[in-house]
Amino acid sequence: MSNDIAKQKAGEYAATLVEDGMTIGIGTGSTVYYFIHTLANKTKEGLHITGVPTSAQTAQLARSLNIPLVDLNDVAQLDLTIDGADEIDPSLNLIKGGGGALLQEKIVAAASVQNIIIADESKLVQNLGKFPLPVEVITFAWRQTQKHIAQLGCSNIVLRQKQDGIFISDHGHYILDCHFEQIDNPALLQQQLNNIPGVVENGLFINMAAKAIVAYSDGSVKEFV
Ligand code: 5RP
Repeated sequence: MSNDIAKQKAGEYAATLVEDGMTIGIGTGSTVYYFIHTLANKTKEGLHITGVPTSAQTAQLARSLNIPLVDLNDVAQLDLTIDGADEIDPSLNLIKGGGGALLQEKIVAAASVQNIIIADESKLVQNLGKFPLPVEVITFAWRQTQKHIAQLGCSNIVLRQKQDGIFISDHGHYILDCHFEQIDNPALLQQQLNNIPGVVENGLFINMAAKAIVAYSDGSVKEFV
């Protein structure tokens, strides 16, 4: 089974957890893409939900499929958020932000009663850090911010690019992809990073996910809690 089919399975499975009347956070990425399409089909069949998107990309897709969206300022909390991840460790700590949406994703996750992660099996790791940790930074003097991140033990930090120049996040910031290789204490690192002037947010999601739904190449789907 290809990764795409596994992603689709995970997305479809997650849609079965959405109940009528819920306000849900809608994540970003190629796995969530399948969740959004399944959710749109369910809303066409009569499921009533309201969504809060985690990125401009997700907002655009959800709107195009007529999923009702609301501003996070206009709701007290979210019942459930479904989002993807770049790495998932055995404690369900995550690296996120491969798609550059980590800031809004973290704000939405923090507003949610329950966060469920969907992924194919390639995202499961013993230790976080092989996937370069995305850190969203203010554009002003970003090289200074980079220097402070390097002092936390990361010698390979890459300013994220897109085809025609520097990648700019939905909120107007740069992303530094930090190749830590192995993160021994993710909870400490996330605090240290967010204490650096110029860091807006980092892609470590610690103790935020209640469950991971992981689809395997043999077609099976497992829940990790
Ligand atoms: C975007 C994210 C995504 O959830 C993460 O990159 C996983 O994406 P995909 O499902 O495409 O592998 O954090 O900022």
